[in-house]
Amino acid sequence: MKTVKLGIAGLGHVGCGLIELVERQAELRLPGKVEIVGVSARSKSRNRPVDVSAYRWFDDAAELAADPEVDVFVELMGGSDGPAKVAVEEALKAGKQVVTANKALIAMHGQDLESLAQANDVDLMFEAAVAGGVPVVRVLRDSLTGVAIQRVSGILNGTCNYLTTEMLQTGRSYDEVLEEAQRLGYAEADPTLDVSGMDAAHKAAILASIAFTADLDFSKVSVKGVDTIELIDLNLADRLGLRIKLIAEGILSDDGVVCRVAPLAMPTDHPLARVDGALNTVRVEGDPLGAVTLTGPGAGPGPTASAVMGDISKLFSPTARSPFGRADHHVTRNFVAAEPAERSAFFLRVKLADRSGALASLTEALAAHGVSVDKLLQESADDSDVSPVAIVTHVCSRGDIDAASARVSALEASVGAPQVIPIDAAM
Ligand code: HSE
Repeated sequence: MKTVKLGIAGLGHVGCGLIELVERQAELRLPGKVEIVGVSARSKSRNRPVDVSAYRWFDDAAELAADPEVDVFVELMGGSDGPAKVAVEEALKAGKQVVTANKALIAMHGQDLESLAQANDVDLMFEAAVAGGVPVVRVLRDSLTGVAIQRVSGILNGTCNYLTTEMLQTGRSYDEVLEEAQRLGYAEADPTLDVSGMDAAHKAAILASIAFTADLDFSKVSVKGVDTIELIDLNLADRLGLRIKLIAEGILSDDGVVCRVAPLAMPTDHPLARVDGALNTVRVEGDPLGAVTLTGPGAGPGPTASAVMGDISKLFSPTARSPFGRADHHVTRNFVAAEPAERSAFFLRVKLADRSGALASLTEALAAHGVSVDKLLQESADDSDVSPVAIVTHVCSRGDIDAASARVSALEASVGAPQVIPIDAAM
């Protein structure tokens, strides 16, 4: 039976999850055996849920990457540049197969690394970089090659989905739930990457690049996160029959590939509204397929380690055809910036000083930009005499709602910045 020898760099939640999985590989269905020949991390002495003392220790991940004993270098360090990139480049140059869960690295440098892999006749695999345990990269790359894809969309960040779900269901604060997501191993080492929408944007850009054979240009991706969402937004939206979620998408337009991440509000019977907690979901729409949806655990040590192991398993018979790989006859597309002229209904939350005429000044500001109110809900003022107001508008352009929101923000009665979230009625 063939044995594949691993060098694992990065011993955080996912690295330790992978070691646990290697240690109980008898329960899995790998084509042969995997053996860990070396590990590397920033700190040797840190307390970990697994005992790594039996493995050769490398202070320098790049040295592990090039070690003659290593067949497959597994990069679980994170970060788009710096030590992770150096180590992956070293591994590829040394003719090692590489498996990584590093979405930032792949979104920023994936295609260059892919070229380096090809030049050295090895594979670069990154199933775990997108949607944790949901096997979407290989499905897009292999199973859906017979589909002309139009749109790839869904929930691609477990931490943000956990935040919006738990805050609404338990009434706990943003900070408290984020801390819990970090404890559970969902969040990135730097959780700003999650809540700013950046992590989901990395993943969406990778999926869009594969789905549309597009040259990945991250500078064209528009990114908004959940870091401005407050509990009051989730509660008021709920009372208006809406759920707010962070949605990522890549769409094929006439000009090229539009990729964006932003919070969206949706009716509670919308298919995405029921995808709760740290779950991820990816919907692929195309011709002549229609649509297919994959849902599952998008974050956490176990699910992510299982995706890493799936890639390792694939490398028992090298494919030399990584997810970005394309043939000369494929159409090559470009990423283009999102169009600001989209039209939809919007969820608008404003905080108003609790005094006579405040609501009238709000509706006047909306009317001045042709924004019409469909539903309106106002809560009693809190101790500071500030009253939250939530509005569902009729369909209008993004330009009109942004202009109306700026006018509202400048009102004497308005407190803080209004929240504006597009409503996605159906998928
Ligand atoms: N921080 C990521 C998330 C982990 O919350 O989805 C999986 O990439």
